[in-house]
Amino acid sequence: MNNRPIGIFDSGVGGLTVVREVMKALPNEKIVYLGDTARVPYGTKSNETIKRFSIENAEFLSRFKVKLIIVACNSASSIALPALKKRFKIPIIGVIKPGAKKAASITRNNRIGVIGTPTTVKSKAYDREIKLISRNRKIVSRACPLFVPLAEEGWLNGKITTDIVKKYLEPLKKNKIDTLVLGCTHYPLLRGVISKVVGKNVRIVDSASSVAGEVRAILERQDRLAKTKRPAHRFFATDAVEQFVKVGERFLGKKIKKAMRANHV
Ligand code: DGL
Repeated sequence: MNNRPIGIFDSGVGGLTVVREVMKALPNEKIVYLGDTARVPYGTKSNETIKRFSIENAEFLSRFKVKLIIVACNSASSIALPALKKRFKIPIIGVIKPGAKKAASITRNNRIGVIGTPTTVKSKAYDREIKLISRNRKIVSRACPLFVPLAEEGWLNGKITTDIVKKYLEPLKKNKIDTLVLGCTHYPLLRGVISKVVGKNVRIVDSASSVAGEVRAILERQDRLAKTKRPAHRFFATDAVEQFVKVGERFLGKKIKKAMRANHV
């Protein structure tokens, strides 16, 4: 059981920022990754559609006898977690709770900013989780839909990107937030410019690294850490694999030797 892989899915390449953090935190774990590139983006789709896609993705990962599934996509985590937990017996971990926990614990003035896709922001999933931890936190959220194509295009700094980031984040700055949650798989790539725009007094919470820490804690607690030396990870995409590899390597921060087409959709 311990050496079974961890399954991770996302709407596309973005979830590789989560894979990157999981690989760092848990170097002996084997990972099976599925990017639903044929149906990306999820962040603008209806709740029903996101639930259906998420269940199909988890079913695909189950074929590999995964011991745990990480829903790397913030949009899917916001909407589909209860449906997934009901349907699958293995632990299903979303990215919202770990990011919310971290933000609630590091804020000093109790004013937290949350940025994500329109779906994630509309769902108020971060607000709910943060308020569960402490009622007196004020949350200011904003959807930043243009950040996703900017990150995929590799426009990670420069004037155009800085101007767009400023335009989205100005209202959060006015609200005097001291903590900002990057509630989308793509945003860690823009962390440099985001941090410059909000200023160094604002602490940035990256939900990708927060979830990796949470998964490590769960596996340790359950005594289910793998001992695989140099695990062979597997990468699947539901559309053009070459494009997935090309863009994905930037998100993963290392080479993807091989990716395969998943044909469940
Ligand atoms: N993976 C999505 C998220 O984290 C961003 C891309 C999309 O909209 O599908 O919300």
